[in-house]
Amino acid sequence: MRIICLALLALLYNGLASAQTNLITDIQSRKTTSLNGTWQHIVDPYETGFYDYRYKELRENHGDAYWNTDVPKDKSEKKEHGYNDKYTLQVPGDWNHQKPEFVFYEGTIWYKKSFDYSPTKAGSRYFIYFGAVNYRADVYLNGKKLGMHKGGFTPFNFEIPTSLLKEKSNFLVVKVDNKRYADEVPTLNTDWWNYGGITRDVKLVELPQSFIQDFVLQLKKPIAGKAPAAMPDAEGYVKLSGFKPGETITVEIPELKFKKQIPATGELTELSFKLPKLQLWDTDKPKLYTVKVKTATDAIEDKIGFRTIEAFGKKVLLNGKPLFMRGICIHGEIPQDVRRAFGPADAKQLLGQAQELGCNMVRLAHYPHDEAMTRMADSLGILVWSEIPVYWTINFGSKEVLGKAKAQLDEMITRDHNRASIIIWSVGNETPVSPTRTDFMHSLITEARRLDNTRMVSAALEVNYNSGKSMNMIDDPLGEFVDLVAFNEYLGWYGGLPNECRKTNWGTPYNKPLFISETGAEAKTGFHADSLTRFSEEYQNWYYVEQLDMMKRMPGNYVGISPWILADFRSPKRNNPVYQEGWNRKGMYDDKGNKKKAFYTLQAYYNEMKKKYSSKK
Ligand code: GCU
Repeated sequence: MRIICLALLALLYNGLASAQTNLITDIQSRKTTSLNGTWQHIVDPYETGFYDYRYKELRENHGDAYWNTDVPKDKSEKKEHGYNDKYTLQVPGDWNHQKPEFVFYEGTIWYKKSFDYSPTKAGSRYFIYFGAVNYRADVYLNGKKLGMHKGGFTPFNFEIPTSLLKEKSNFLVVKVDNKRYADEVPTLNTDWWNYGGITRDVKLVELPQSFIQDFVLQLKKPIAGKAPAAMPDAEGYVKLSGFKPGETITVEIPELKFKKQIPATGELTELSFKLPKLQLWDTDKPKLYTVKVKTATDAIEDKIGFRTIEAFGKKVLLNGKPLFMRGICIHGEIPQDVRRAFGPADAKQLLGQAQELGCNMVRLAHYPHDEAMTRMADSLGILVWSEIPVYWTINFGSKEVLGKAKAQLDEMITRDHNRASIIIWSVGNETPVSPTRTDFMHSLITEARRLDNTRMVSAALEVNYNSGKSMNMIDDPLGEFVDLVAFNEYLGWYGGLPNECRKTNWGTPYNKPLFISETGAEAKTGFHADSLTRFSEEYQNWYYVEQLDMMKRMPGNYVGISPWILADFRSPKRNNPVYQEGWNRKGMYDDKGNKKKAFYTLQAYYNEMKKKYSSKK
């Protein structure tokens, strides 16, 4: 009996811990009203608007709560808070770059937006949708709490009870808190700037009573080592909200003259059918098809590329052909403005620079980037490594922290599971090896595969530098569970000088593809000296010359590299007053878009690798 109870408890726990997001996807194809623009704000480092003077949470209708009206009911009423056009912030956008006093601010800022709304259709349902808020968001409308979300880089939405929405002057308030905590994801310590705020789009979404919440349609996981069939098998699902028995779902791809009607089997209806002969998506020809999904009351569409990806023995196969990933790591930051990246123009800058470098792949570090990045990568034919910020010293012993990581993993995969460009879900970066950590990470890998079994799962693993005199082994126990054995190494920057590379070899006991997910050295643009002088462009270039020469001796399962990093980026950990000044200078570009000497060395290597692999096709 006891065993049954324990099993049931475990099932319950896993169900609870693996958050089932109610995320509405394909937001760009919905009826939405943008709430971007100027919001009024109150800076609240002591969270006076949330707690009373005894530090107890204020009750919902408390007059001093910052989510309640700031207008006194008469001249005698005391109000010690208020929203005013003297104090505004632009949304989307981190607060750090908008006002000099916010550059280092870590705490709470209250955002307020008033909006009118006239429903277009009687009987609609309404949701407030956020592309991302870093880190915790408490959302209120007209004095009522809609919900709370944690996680700085993934979308979320809350339903608005129709009785709450007014035609005039809706009072929308968002409490944003970007303080760091040991038991959050990420934790206290990161090598990036803790940009706070409503950093991505905010939209009011109007939907029918029964609507298509999410759908996924991808080519089926390939038969080991095989290219997709001429008429490939596709599978996925359609998730309905407000499902009514008897509904029928239509899936249509007009360009392929494909149309299929499927009876809805409940909230979740599985899809599995053959597609007509089609052009596969790949990095040379990133073909996208418009896929329409309809029910009697709702219709959405998405642009989807059909391809297969798999780790097969020592190789990675894209549509059954061996792939070499010419990558680069990218932070979601626009360095010349010192701000978080969002929207298509920013995506174009970052992905355009990666293309100029000769990349066919980007590692979007260390958190899910704005949706504009993955959608543009689809259009440009750039492969993507997408990652949740399980970074360094997470509290691996906490089931609550595991639940938070799973929630972000779920939101990342749900938002982007139709993106052909994404070939790798990464569950973390450089996490210190221990049995507790490996169990935690293995649980995330299992969850990623439960959510999507069509892509590779990986993480930046740890290197065993003591495995042999000139052989460094990637024998991290987590390597047993990933599809792609990826690792970060900085031989010649964090360990010895670049000529260390000449006598170093790399290996792994896992019969899996091997990928270098980070390598790099710093240089301040315009600082020229001999190659032994740290922070000179010559040192960084020497580092790349030695590293790329070492790559010629990589074992046969070497399938690619994504050096650290495309552009210099802000970090509170980089405090050399001459060369860094709060910037990590490992970029191939500096913060003004200037290329460093090493850019051309890496570019030449990628041109060589492109020729080598294109001749193999
Ligand atoms: C680490 C880490 C990066 C960091 C980089 C560096 O590998 O993954 O986030 O910025 O090294 O030290 O520059």
